[in-house]
Amino acid sequence: MHKLTIKNLHVSIDDKEILKGIDLEINSHEIHAIMGPNGNGKSTLLSTIMGHPRYEVTEGSITFDGEDVLEMEVDERSRAGLFLGMQYPQEVSGVTNSDFLKSAINARRETPVGLYDFVKSMESNLEKLRMKPDLAHRFLNEGFSGGEKKRNEILQLLMLNPHIAMLDEIDSGLDIDALHIVANVLKEAQNERQMGLMVVSHYERFFEFIEPTHTHIMIDGKIVLSSDASLVRKIDQEGYDWIDAKRADEKVEKRPESIASSVLKEALGDTHD
Ligand SMILES: Nc1ncnc2c1ncn2[C@@H]1O[C@H](COP(=O)(O)OP(=O)(O)OP(=O)(O)O)[C@@H](O)[C@H]1O
Ligand SMILES: [Mg+2]
Repeated sequence: MHKLTIKNLHVSIDDKEILKGIDLEINSHEIHAIMGPNGNGKSTLLSTIMGHPRYEVTEGSITFDGEDVLEMEVDERSRAGLFLGMQYPQEVSGVTNSDFLKSAINARRETPVGLYDFVKSMESNLEKLRMKPDLAHRFLNEGFSGGEKKRNEILQLLMLNPHIAMLDEIDSGLDIDALHIVANVLKEAQNERQMGLMVVSHYERFFEFIEPTHTHIMIDGKIVLSSDASLVRKIDQEGYDWIDAKRADEKVEKRPESIASSVLKEALGDTHD
């Protein structure tokens, strides 16, 4: 059992606060859906957990199995069992996909992986994802199609076998067949390995395959609502406006002047009518 705990996380980019106090707890075997309108901090949250240097944590904590994640370098986070499948996978010229994977795997082992075992596992995972075998020997993501890049992120996940995997819009850019393939492979891996998942997606369809145990809505750098899978369906049907409206109502209710005026009204009573 593994546990990722995020407490009161505040994150800035170039002195602009993007995350404004996030609290989340993710256990292995749980599937957390993160939804929210564009530009509200979902990718920022995932990249911060993985240790992207651009994001400055100004307050709060992230721990994984009790260890301070914020003290770890990116590769230490990966070795600890955290994984990020990126919204926009980077192209890396000069490093082949297979060399990249081999060194990432070896970084997590005492003795290097045997070539035979590595090739076998690579081949079987490529096949599971119905990826062209030559993608293994090309430079990492260079010239890969949008869908090939996304499948390649899942290939990395399968090979690295993390305890908690974060997937940032892994479904965008996948054709309908690829969506089925990726979802099935993910579900199987999640089930077999009791992996925790944190899945960002805009689309209900993906969460029909990967049924979340928890759903969180992020607006303006905060998680404003958490529930179960039913919340995904509500968002699909009604969008996000009702949440904004609900929050605005709550704010008005809490405003001292409005409380004062309602107290005043009550004190005056309705007897003036
Ligand atoms: N390097 C940066 N410099 C300035 N602002 C940034 C930078 N990176 C992110 N931001 C801003 O931070 C906010 C949150 O961005 P983020 O990518 O986390 O949103 P998101 O919720 O993942 O959106 P989407 O659904 O479109 O992927 C946005 O307003 C974005 O413009
Ligand atoms: Mg994003």
